[in-house]
Amino acid sequence: MEKTNYIPALRFNWLTKLYNPLIAFTMPELKFKSALIEQANILPHHHVLDFGVGTATLSLLVRKTQPECAIDGVDVDEKIVKIAKEKVEKEKAQIMITKYDGIVLPYADNSFDRVITSLVFHHLDKDQKLNSLKEIKRVLKPNGELHIADWGKAANPIMRGLFYLVQLLDGFKTTTDNVKGFLPSYIDTTGFSNIANTTNYSTIFGTLSLYKSIVKK
Ligand SMILES: C[S@@+](CC[C@H](N)C(=O)[O-])C[C@H]1O[C@@H](n2cnc3c(N)ncnc32)[C@H](O)[C@@H]1O
Repeated sequence: MEKTNYIPALRFNWLTKLYNPLIAFTMPELKFKSALIEQANILPHHHVLDFGVGTATLSLLVRKTQPECAIDGVDVDEKIVKIAKEKVEKEKAQIMITKYDGIVLPYADNSFDRVITSLVFHHLDKDQKLNSLKEIKRVLKPNGELHIADWGKAANPIMRGLFYLVQLLDGFKTTTDNVKGFLPSYIDTTGFSNIANTTNYSTIFGTLSLYKSIVKK
């Protein structure tokens, strides 16, 4: 079966174990992930997909804030999926973690009320971004919502300068359209509506943005 290339959480597989402590130490992680969950307004009967679940930090936070909803997490990286499964098991949380090929999401059409995703889209090149958005649209129910946290348009030259650190780590091919602010237009192109850039955070790595949008089918 065809498989997509992917960039591991910290670019190199041997750094994956350091991902959790590094992000928690260097980023306002709890703040922006909590804000993403709050804007997603997840209800008890909702089915939520965490796209690019990583080590399941965001999914576990959803589980704490909304104990009754159903949560799935999906990722391409076998190594990080293993870490996520161990974390979820340790916390006895009801979250289904699945590895996939990075191309076709392993879910039926119209499965989810919300798709949430954090720090994933800057790992994807333009084609992968567009394909992922189309797949997310496919698995969302009509009027379902997509909530993204990722690097956004640099708010000022200082934020632009700081973002070069991320680009050196993750590569220019996947990150340049983020920092140029192209993500909302990609979301628009793939058929979402009511697209809004709800919040921006100034971080030591640049401007981190939250976006929301709705699927009209
Ligand atoms: C920087 S990590 C973020 C992890 C997690 N969402 C978080 O906020 O902690 C980026 C994640 O995106 C995943 N990823 C890369 N390409 C992907 C793709 N095509 N589809 C889904 N996930 C992908 C990586 O394996 C990695 O786990």
